Amino acid sequence: AQEIETAPLGNAAELEQFRITYIGRKGQIAALFDNLKEVAPEQRREVGQQLNQLKNRAQERFDQAQEQLANSTESNTDIGFDFTLPTIPNTLGTRHPLSLVRREIVRIFERIGFNVAEGPEMEDDFHNFTALNFPENHPAREMQDTFFLSEDKNHLLRTHTSNVQVRLMENNQPPLRSIMPGRVYRNEAISARAHMVFHQVEGLYVNKGVSFKDLKETLYYFAKELFGQDTKVRFRPSFFPFTEPSAEIDISCLICKGEGCNICKQTGWVEIGGSGMVDPAVLESCGIDPNVYSGFAFGMGIERITMLKYQIKDLRLFTENDVRFLRQFEGIV
Ligand code: PHE
Repeated sequence: AQEIETAPLGNAAELEQFRITYIGRKGQIAALFDNLKEVAPEQRREVGQQLNQLKNRAQERFDQAQEQLANSTESNTDIGFDFTLPTIPNTLGTRHPLSLVRREIVRIFERIGFNVAEGPEMEDDFHNFTALNFPENHPAREMQDTFFLSEDKNHLLRTHTSNVQVRLMENNQPPLRSIMPGRVYRNEAISARAHMVFHQVEGLYVNKGVSFKDLKETLYYFAKELFGQDTKVRFRPSFFPFTEPSAEIDISCLICKGEGCNICKQTGWVEIGGSGMVDPAVLESCGIDPNVYSGFAFGMGIERITMLKYQIKDLRLFTENDVRFLRQFEGIV
């Protein structure tokens, strides 16, 4: 009884010690209760009452001390923490420039009704080539510098995001209006201007009566939103197996505003991607009736757009993760 009155109960550790020693199931009071059967029967009742008193008193002291500890501000200093100190500011990382630009592209197209579609990076021949009107053994396949994943060349790393077009059209009927950002792979030597892994964003609009005019208006809008309202866009005739007619998309050089500089090789124009009207044969391969529907598609390199927008001269910076490069994008959200 004496001990129960004097045992220290000043902090959490002492409280716990007290609980174990006296109150707990293996504690001293429990042990005394166990010994009760050895007490002479005529005394058992009185001893039992005393033990109960002891037990209640121990519990009482414990409860009181616990409440006091919870309420005391001193306990805060006990654990070595001053709640009145100002917080240490948390330095956030920076978003990767490619993520920033991808997100901006997505936002621009979302405003005119495009949603985002995704597809696999490991693809089969059909979705990367055949459905897109690349005939077997056609030299256009060679030009894509494909990484093949199987001996029979049926499995590969996608060389462009156009595989997502195919999957979208296979699984949905028009109207379709999506952009498809993603990683693509080509077996190229790494240099300031080429990489074996990079990003594209594809766009596809399929509906009744879609014309080349719709393609042009969409890309005019996009280029002005992303690069500034005074940006000009021009289309140069080109060739892609999956579009007809096809056009390369150029924008007026952001640096010299068309005057001619090193970035645009003195031409005043820089290329940002390819585009065209979806070839009827492609619509057909994907289960869409080309007699009812038409569509346009475009594809652009996200690295290329980012390099133009932020005047980055070396593609390798995107993958090196040098914080001196990445920190330059701090605060852009
Ligand atoms: N897939 C083409 C490429 O990677 C780009 C493109 C997409 C061109 C859509 C036209 C239409 O080069």
